[in-house]
Amino acid sequence: AKGAAMVTAVAYRLTEQARQIQQTMAEFRLSKAQLLEVKKRMRVEIERGLKKSSHEEATVKMLPTFVRRTPDGTENGDFLALDLGGTNFRVLLVKIRSGKKRSVEMHNKIYAIPIEVMQGTGEELFDHIVHCISDFLDYMGMKSARLPLGFTFSFPCHQTSLDAGILVTWTKGFKATDCEGEDVVELLRDAIKRKEMENPEFELDVVAIVNDTVGTMMTCAYEEPNCEVGLIAGTGSNACYMEEAKNIELVEGSEGRMCVNMEWGAFGDNGCLDDIRTKYDQAVDENSLNEGKQRYEKMCSGMYLGEIVRQILIDLTRRGFLFRGQISETLKTRGIFETKFLSQIESDRLALLQVRAILQQLGLDSTCDDSIIVKEVCGTVSRRAAQICGAGMAAVVDKIRENRGMDHLDITVGVDGTLYKLHPHFSLIFHQTVKELAPKCDVNFLLSEDGSGKGAALITAVGCRQRELDAQ
Ligand code: GLC
Repeated sequence: AKGAAMVTAVAYRLTEQARQIQQTMAEFRLSKAQLLEVKKRMRVEIERGLKKSSHEEATVKMLPTFVRRTPDGTENGDFLALDLGGTNFRVLLVKIRSGKKRSVEMHNKIYAIPIEVMQGTGEELFDHIVHCISDFLDYMGMKSARLPLGFTFSFPCHQTSLDAGILVTWTKGFKATDCEGEDVVELLRDAIKRKEMENPEFELDVVAIVNDTVGTMMTCAYEEPNCEVGLIAGTGSNACYMEEAKNIELVEGSEGRMCVNMEWGAFGDNGCLDDIRTKYDQAVDENSLNEGKQRYEKMCSGMYLGEIVRQILIDLTRRGFLFRGQISETLKTRGIFETKFLSQIESDRLALLQVRAILQQLGLDSTCDDSIIVKEVCGTVSRRAAQICGAGMAAVVDKIRENRGMDHLDITVGVDGTLYKLHPHFSLIFHQTVKELAPKCDVNFLLSEDGSGKGAALITAVGCRQRELDAQ
């Protein structure tokens, strides 16, 4: 009888444990009503960002980009492009040919940006960038070519023209000093001048500064003219779309459209998402380089999903439900769960044994039960990410539909980003959510290949042509 009582006690503890774990995860499971509420709030913030009277204190900045149309195939020439702010820093040579056999040929090289440079001084960062450009030109054997350059700079910038952008604030892992409040095109030009002093042949002409969302939209629009929205679901999260010029109060003129870089990562920074943020989201925020900022991004982008997972695992371990109650050094280490690990853990093709092998690789000793819990935690966190990202997108496509006074809208969204591309379920859940929350829109998603670089070159081509016209 005593034995039986013990068995019951153990079983009870197990079910009680399961119940508590489920209770913890329940906060991450959002109902349709909650998601519709997220969509509605995004719409409110969009309006606040667009209106002059509320722009100053708005969190979703809705920044004008001075890109007034998508490509039409007449773009032509050779361009350099830089891509800074995603998983990799890249320098590219892009050759665009117009006409019947229009084509885009690209060569690129990836460079590392050491963390000391990301978080050092602005001068060091821009000198490093120019050093990489110079290395790339050497590598391509084209030392003295004076090429127009498009700079994909994936951070919020207040633009006053195609080639001027004041950095509003760093986001993601960057924190170089003396850059916020400065025109990054000028910072780049200054670094180019410093290089020119060493080597007079080194000349570059910076024509455009481009957000990665905009580059992605333009790249996809080159193939599919219906593409008027860009989305990045990667290290960071953000979107852009073609807004009616008359609605963008920050820019003079009411003719036609202009692409707006939403900077939706900052959605929630005024507290409007507090009811769905969990204590784990708060812990991730407190541990980050930019506390209080980019709260939506911290719930739905690759740089932070692993951190949310880690916070939950720490808590479950502390409560004795995981890893035999032992919080290892590994689990205390920031950034261990990169997107690629989450993607592997959640892959349906992996047996639990393989999940345990991945955890082992990360230095986490797990039992079979542990691995089941870890996998469920990852799945719950990434599902919520895909859903709230979908709620944001539903707000955008519905806004475009209303702008155009249509009952039904067919539109294409150009997409890029490691989370979207690598994760086994993110894209599917995201698509389903957009469909469910914006039933009057038929949204087609187009993956961009090398979007930011190609897009920057396309925008640079348009910028060069505009300059020539202005000079006439
Ligand atoms: C961050 C940046 C934004 C960028 C996004 C995706 O949210 O602020 O400019 O588009 O990351 O890289």
